[in-house]
Amino acid sequence: VLPYTKQADRQITIGETVIDCFTAGAHNIDAVTVASFGEEWTKFSHFSDAEISAIGAEYFDIVPPAALNEGSVVLDAGCGTGRWSLYAAKRAKFVEAIDPSQAVLAAAKLTAGAGNIRVTQSAIDTLPFADASFDFVFSLGVLHHIPDTFAALKALVQKVKPGGYFLVYLYYNLDNRGVAYKALFGAVNQLRIAVSKLPGAAKRLVCDALAVALYLPLVSAAWVFKQLTPGSNAYQKIPLAYYVGKSWKVIRNDALDRFGTPLEQRFSRQQVHDMMTRAGLENIVFSEGAPYWHALGRKPL
Ligand SMILES: C[S@@+](CC[C@H](N)C(=O)[O-])C[C@H]1O[C@@H](n2cnc3c(N)ncnc32)[C@H](O)[C@@H]1O
Repeated sequence: VLPYTKQADRQITIGETVIDCFTAGAHNIDAVTVASFGEEWTKFSHFSDAEISAIGAEYFDIVPPAALNEGSVVLDAGCGTGRWSLYAAKRAKFVEAIDPSQAVLAAAKLTAGAGNIRVTQSAIDTLPFADASFDFVFSLGVLHHIPDTFAALKALVQKVKPGGYFLVYLYYNLDNRGVAYKALFGAVNQLRIAVSKLPGAAKRLVCDALAVALYLPLVSAAWVFKQLTPGSNAYQKIPLAYYVGKSWKVIRNDALDRFGTPLEQRFSRQQVHDMMTRAGLENIVFSEGAPYWHALGRKPL
């Protein structure tokens, strides 16, 4: 574990585990969104090894052993349930997993057996770690839920050692999609704005209904199209084709994630590249595969 640079505001004790909390004074944070994630991750708190390996491989496809290896001290910023901490811990020396929400309880439970992961309750702008203390920092699906995405990204890059790496996944603004896809998304986004305002139980119910009424037909259509066009990637043009082969639980979880979250921002590939460059990263590599966009950059020596 890394030494904390300050005293914890408080501690949460669950069984044998004590979680230190450092959220006081966070300002680059959307409290309603964080509360919503706390609820989401309490509901979807378990992931099988197979699910974590299969989806984790999609996010980490651009991460070479030089960036993440058995000597790496790692930060998972916005860990949620800690599923990607678990994935990274298999390739790393130690993982510090942080999240400001109640998800830390689920994360502490999911990662308890790993032996090289510590969970801390913290926001990105209240991190209790010294600058330049990590070999590898990653933040997957987090920074677009933060009011000032660039400030948060820059704060994380500050925690990377010179010569270390930063992996980020930010929602794309559909810049690689056609007009019809964008129009459909526009309509669906209005629905998200309405659904995300519902109270917890109603929100979960509506999101489950959307998983059945919206995700299931589109994913099924994409699956059929895939069978009819063997060897072709054309099926990926169908919205939600990403979920072909994913479990029903993953689909329900993502429906809640997508429709239940009040604050989300979207970025083009160029905007992600610019933010990473302005934060001081070089050798930026984008994955050509979903989820879009995820990219890796290196901090100069
Ligand atoms: C979509 S979830 C992603 C969780 C995890 N990375 C994953 O992919 O499973 C976004 C997470 O970002 C966290 N988050 C929101 N605002 C944050 C902030 N200011 N600092 C750190 N994490 C934050 C939320 O609590 C939530 O768990």
